[in-house]
Amino acid sequence: MSAIVEQNTHDYSLCTEYGSPDDVIVTNDTQQALDIIARVLLEPSDVVAVEDPGYRPPRYLFKTLGARVIGVPVDSEGLVVQALPAGAKAIYVTPSRQYPLGVAQSALAQFIDEVDGLL
Ligand SMILES: Cc1ncc(COP(=O)(O)O)c(C=O)c1O
Repeated sequence: MSAIVEQNTHDYSLCTEYGSPDDVIVTNDTQQALDIIARVLLEPSDVVAVEDPGYRPPRYLFKTLGARVIGVPVDSEGLVVQALPAGAKAIYVTPSRQYPLGVAQSALAQFIDEVDGLL
């Protein structure tokens, strides 16, 4: 297990700013990782924004945990940040290339900077 963590922290330059390899949790898949993150970060009835269209399983997971899930449209620059619901606690997006449309997420990184969020 520690070999997996060490290889990935090296390959992706993880943990240099936010922690050490000891802080990494290896999960079976995306859904398990999101389940852990959501249980730590979300309270029932928190608003979670998701891409519409988008990868659907996380949407069901957040709903199961009691979150209010709101679909946000996607255009040629990725997630339409102007359409984000007010007070969203979290935004779930596919990285770099949006699924299923394949467009680059060019608007999101700038938005996260502006609101001092964590991407
Ligand atoms: C956009 C997207 N996100 C997440 C996943 C889930 O990946 P995994 O559960 O294998 O980590 C998939 C799998 O097809 C996917 O297409």
